[in-house]
Amino acid sequence: MKIAVVHGPNLRLLGRREPHVDGSTTLDEINSALAALAQELGVEIDFFQSNHEGEILDHLEQLPGQCHGILINPAGLTHTSVSLRDALAGIGVPTVEVHLSNPASREDFRHISFVAPVAVGTVAGFGKNSYLFGLQGLVAHLKTQAE
Ligand code: DQA
Repeated sequence: MKIAVVHGPNLRLLGRREPHVDGSTTLDEINSALAALAQELGVEIDFFQSNHEGEILDHLEQLPGQCHGILINPAGLTHTSVSLRDALAGIGVPTVEVHLSNPASREDFRHISFVAPVAVGTVAGFGKNSYLFGLQGLVAHLKTQAE
């Protein structure tokens, strides 16, 4: 089983930007923790980050047939991108949305997610662990679907 991890805009700044909101964990640390968990779960994993919406859409477009599930932190695109929502709906690869922070407890403009309605589920508010819980949930979901 193969999982594609997609990190949205500005997430390479993790560890340096607004640590009171996002914590001090870096993107490399998140990816290492995900890789270790993937090994435990017996799944393959690969990582993609871009600050460019179009690059993310191009990447998503070529994922069907390449992976079984997507773990995505769409970052700011969560709240703005109809195109991202359409791409995820269009490719039809089961997707779990994750956020380090809990957008529902932040500014009003973060209360809308265009991604949530086309995701299997969302994990938010647990810092780095949101990604780890999200990966566990996605793999459990895919295994149940495969039975
Ligand atoms: C975020 C939450 C978004 O609202 C924000 O724009 C981000 C990070 C999170 O992981 O908490 O860039 O997706």
